[in-house]
Amino acid sequence: MNHRDGRPWQNPLTKEDMTAVGLTCAACHTGRFTYQKTAVFIDGAPAITRVDELQKAIGLALAYTRYLPSRFGRFADRVLGPGVRDNAKSVLRAELDEVLEQYKKTKALDDSVKAQGVEEGFARLDALNRIGNTVFALDLNADQNYVAKSAPVHFPRIWDASWFTWVQYNGSIEQPMVRNAGEALGVFAAVNLTGVKDKLYQSSVQPETLHKIEQLLAGMPPDAARGFTGLNSPKWPETILPAIDKTLAAKGAALYKTICQKCHLPPVTTPEFWNSPRWLPPNGAGERYLDVELIPLGHIGTDPAQAEGMKNRKVSIPEDLGVTTNEFGPALGKVVEKTATYWYDHQNPPTPEAVRQNMNGNRPNGIQAPLAYKVRPLDGIWATPPYLHNGSVPNVYALLSPVAERPAKFFLGNREYDPVNLGYRTEEVPGSFEVDTSIKGNLNTGHEFDDNPKKPGVIGRRLNPDERRALVEYLKTQ
Ligand code: HEC
Ligand code: HEC
Repeated sequence: MNHRDGRPWQNPLTKEDMTAVGLTCAACHTGRFTYQKTAVFIDGAPAITRVDELQKAIGLALAYTRYLPSRFGRFADRVLGPGVRDNAKSVLRAELDEVLEQYKKTKALDDSVKAQGVEEGFARLDALNRIGNTVFALDLNADQNYVAKSAPVHFPRIWDASWFTWVQYNGSIEQPMVRNAGEALGVFAAVNLTGVKDKLYQSSVQPETLHKIEQLLAGMPPDAARGFTGLNSPKWPETILPAIDKTLAAKGAALYKTICQKCHLPPVTTPEFWNSPRWLPPNGAGERYLDVELIPLGHIGTDPAQAEGMKNRKVSIPEDLGVTTNEFGPALGKVVEKTATYWYDHQNPPTPEAVRQNMNGNRPNGIQAPLAYKVRPLDGIWATPPYLHNGSVPNVYALLSPVAERPAKFFLGNREYDPVNLGYRTEEVPGSFEVDTSIKGNLNTGHEFDDNPKKPGVIGRRLNPDERRALVEYLKTQ
């Protein structure tokens, strides 16, 4: 963390800038489950982290450090060195007060909008509203821009995503740099939106590092011969989880082809996938992107809160920031772009245009807020419970069952994997969180296979239990 106006904290004694720590991508995008006695970590899979509780715990720890003299003493010794003068200690105490003040303010804002909120719990967080609150309410010091966390979404799997035309569940963001720098602002990288005027958009965001991370995720431009070479989807670990029934999986493959493939595309390991017309022709940088299809809410029928929330949110922004829209999505896109541009402009020498293009991922800063959710390939889907964008369905078997058969309530927080249904086990364990799918934001409707094609959200015929089992077995192979 820095001061809210972007200035780094300084060591009261040496006046040197202090190092800030914060969350990086892995906090939310590293999967971890246990099976019997083995723990399995999966790069790029959804974490089961509960960020709201983590924030609360850090806030409490800071408060104890501030108010318990013995604890503050230890803290001061570690930061300033043992036995330093009292005035440096009181500067340090004042800095801690500023941080706690920020915590208190955020808590008061959260409480003021709580009635519209939906608890995030494990494995989910309302990423876009959180980023919006951090940038447009806290960084801008404008309480009226604070909204409730009303659309918690499941941390997505991030393999393959570098090559999608549009990312986020509602297909709202086009450019990798804006996505990643926006995320950094969301997890409290500091940006100056209110302080010294000629340094507006100075920030602690590090585009160079973000670009390196993105290169690792993306790998080389993918094609039929090499497939995806960056972060790859995980293979079902047959040495840890029960072996796959190949005969049953073959039955599932046939069902996938007739029922699922038109939306989710052929398996990523097949030539059909790489020849799909959804791969756009190469752009100026010689890169091809997978044009992910956006399925309108009226058709897919899943919880509308994420897509509607982004479309409807408005923000008010002072003129000197040079943002001319009050639509949340486009305004956020502009602020993030200006933050990256400030950094490029202030390198010595300034980052050349061609290098900026490359670091931006060779794509324009497109922002849209369609009332739709994107559909993407299902490689590695077995490793990413719970399911749907809002994590409202605990396992793949339940997702392939009619809505009436999906659990209306279930517990999240148990890490033990259920290799039969492809999910976490849903029994209550100490500290677990109950997902109540009757609450807007948590709805488990839609993406339904049932025999009434007129019912909203029905996208295919009813699958009998044997067919669901066959599809589950097949998805283990993907
Ligand atoms: C605090 C948790 C958190 C952190 C930290 C985080 N992300 Fe995410 N990320 C999310 C959530 C939640 C979404 C989905 C948001 C939505 O669609 O509304 C997301 C979306 C994405 C997507 C889009 C996936 C898709 O298919 O649409 C990519 C790619 C991504 N993140 C990469 C990153 C990278 C790279 C970093 C580090 C620079 C990062 N994330 C840090 C929570 C996080
Ligand atoms: C009409 C297009 C369409 C068809 C047909 C379709 N899906 Fe989907 N699928 C989607 C969309 C859109 C989503 C994202 C919905 C959301 O998250 O709200 C999705 C999500 C999923 C998810 C959850 C992904 C996640 O991020 O949690 C799984 C699993 C899945 N589909 C499996 C299947 C299977 C198996 C079939 C065939 C039996 C199938 N789908 C048929 C459009 C489709």
